Amino acid sequence: MTQHIHLVAAARPNFMKIAPLWHALSAAPEFAPVLIHTGQHYDANMSDAIFADLGLPQPDYHLGVGSGSHAEQTGGVMIAYEKIAATDRPDWLIVVGDVNSTAACAMVAAKLCFTVIHLEAGLRSRDRRMPEEINRLVTDAIADVLWTPSPDGDENLIAEGVDPARITRVGNIMLDSFELVRPAIEAAGTAGSLGLTPGGYGVVTLHRPSNVDEDHQLEALVDALAAVQQRLPLVFPVHPRTAVRLDATGLGGRLDRAGVKRVAPQGYVAFMNLVTQSAAVITDSGGVQEETTYLGIPCLTLRENTERPVTITHGSNRLVTAATLSREVAEALTMPREGWRRPGLWDGRTAARCLDDLRRRSGLLAEARSAA
Ligand code: UD1
Repeated sequence: MTQHIHLVAAARPNFMKIAPLWHALSAAPEFAPVLIHTGQHYDANMSDAIFADLGLPQPDYHLGVGSGSHAEQTGGVMIAYEKIAATDRPDWLIVVGDVNSTAACAMVAAKLCFTVIHLEAGLRSRDRRMPEEINRLVTDAIADVLWTPSPDGDENLIAEGVDPARITRVGNIMLDSFELVRPAIEAAGTAGSLGLTPGGYGVVTLHRPSNVDEDHQLEALVDALAAVQQRLPLVFPVHPRTAVRLDATGLGGRLDRAGVKRVAPQGYVAFMNLVTQSAAVITDSGGVQEETTYLGIPCLTLRENTERPVTITHGSNRLVTAATLSREVAEALTMPREGWRRPGLWDGRTAARCLDDLRRRSGLLAEARSAA
């Protein structure tokens, strides 16, 4: 019998996690994926451009929830998704990552007694000031199946009392997206079109509330970036949240005067072209820490902690502050790279492992139903 599967995509980092699954499920006759876009991200370059790059079709359902406070966004997604789930009744709901829509849809489906799978389960920063940490804890507590990217994910869940039978380590799905469109990334020429010399520039991304919402922290970061720019030209695709703050504080002008190249948010292919040709990346994103580890590019993460510790123990990632950034960048450009390696199952074949697990668990579910 065909398995009816809801796949939820909400915000930019979700799209790279959903695309490989959507392609794999669409090619398998026993599965019928239904793509649901909650509309948490809605700008053309935060959503449509990435859908197009990853070969995703128009969503089957678009909830159009948009921006708002955490409660408004989470509540809006719950109300809108409940209507669809109640009539369209999936066999499985797959949610990914840690954004507000992830927790919102998982809560709706769990209460309607649909089987919920969380892809990228078990990650913990242990910093409850991060909204994403709350979303991870809530989603993992109520999901039936936990697909983890790395051994620390399994360990965190088991330490929280999760039955190991609910956990399957599938690896890192984001890297499937990279491999899916690698030829286009390599051919893109984004760096050249921005006048950047391959291997001779750094890429910056910043959007965490803890970095951009407070004036004094944003100012310290802007000054740190201006200092780095003196030795390494920087290109900065600016997230909408950060763009608003840079304009409101006038700090954008300070970046411009220092020579930092501010550009609009890029599509997936263009952005990954910038990353693959860069000398180093400065970021507060979760996904970028993983992509740079996979590619062996130095990553300086402007955060106090990371829910992705394997990017430090195995990969090229270091946690830095505004005060240490300039020195850390200088060190990163010359540091030995022999110790860096890709974590296990970060190999571009995670979607296939997800489908294997779905088949196994569908069989178990069918057996349990016929025995009842
Ligand atoms: C959200 C996620 C975060 C993820 C990030 C990736 C949560 C709690 N946060 O944060 O985990 O790392 O996405 O980008 O789910 N805006 C636009 N256009 C858009 C989207 C947003 O202009 O397409 C602006 C709006 O002013 C909005 C602000 O950006 O208020 C922030 O967007 P929001 O979705 O609330 O959070 P992000 O910071 O993007």
